[in-house]
Amino acid sequence: MTAAALETRGLVAGYEPDLPIVRGVDLTVAPGELLVLLGPNGAGKSTLVKAIAGVVPVHAGSVHLGGRDITRVAAHRKIGEGLAFVPQTENIFARMTIHENLQLAAAILPKALRAEKIDAMYRRFADLGAKPSRLAGALSGGQRQMLAVARALIVDPPVLILDEPSAGLSPKIVGEVFAMLKEINAGGVTVILVEQNVKAALSIASRAVILVEGRIRHEGAAAALLGDPLVAKLYLGTGHTQTAEQP
Ligand SMILES: Nc1ncnc2c1ncn2[C@@H]1O[C@H](COP(=O)(O)OP(=O)(O)OP(=O)(O)O)[C@@H](O)[C@H]1O
Ligand SMILES: [Mg+2]
Repeated sequence: MTAAALETRGLVAGYEPDLPIVRGVDLTVAPGELLVLLGPNGAGKSTLVKAIAGVVPVHAGSVHLGGRDITRVAAHRKIGEGLAFVPQTENIFARMTIHENLQLAAAILPKALRAEKIDAMYRRFADLGAKPSRLAGALSGGQRQMLAVARALIVDPPVLILDEPSAGLSPKIVGEVFAMLKEINAGGVTVILVEQNVKAALSIASRAVILVEGRIRHEGAAAALLGDPLVAKLYLGTGHTQTAEQP
């Protein structure tokens, strides 16, 4: 049997030792999947992905990447293990240029590879390549997300986790960001996407997991969930909005 790209076993995590937010999550993500992680505000979605990324303490259980136990690997070393995490905020250095941001991300690569990998990102993200000397803080919301994703992808990680990359973006730009994620996934990267933008996320995902109060409440094919207004209404608080958004 092929190892899961990412797996959590009985994961319990939270900010305070006696206050678990993630309360026993068994999550298995197969290689090549695009999984969307949904759930109401405060469900623990960010806490779960941060615990996987090593920036929130794990109280119990384990995290496995390609079959290797990475639970205790320090957050900054997880990228070297093959796990890239794009947090919701502070995912770029606003006071540095695009190029400096990419150079920092490339620093864990062998020196001889760095320039080539940065160039590959400039080819892939034309907006970034157009003016590498621009300050990251001067970029539009969509371009910032592109830079955050480019930073994450520079080392060719097998697994990419993103926490609400669409937050604060206009619907058109959300469409562009999601199309980019779909393309990255089609290129072989396993993607785990935390989203509030339920409809758009379900339409690019293969599978969905709904987290409620720190536990998995529902999981299944994304397409099935897209057509299930009851699930959307019960667990995501979006039943009405979803209906209203229908063309
Ligand atoms: N830094 C923190 N310190 C202490 N508690 C926190 C911290 N961040 C979040 N929490 C608490 O953890 C719980 C889960 O929050 P979390 O951010 O994981 O939810 P979420 O599902 O990502 O919600 P949202 O959809 O709003 O992003 C909430 O009760 C929240 O108040
Ligand atoms: Mg969150």
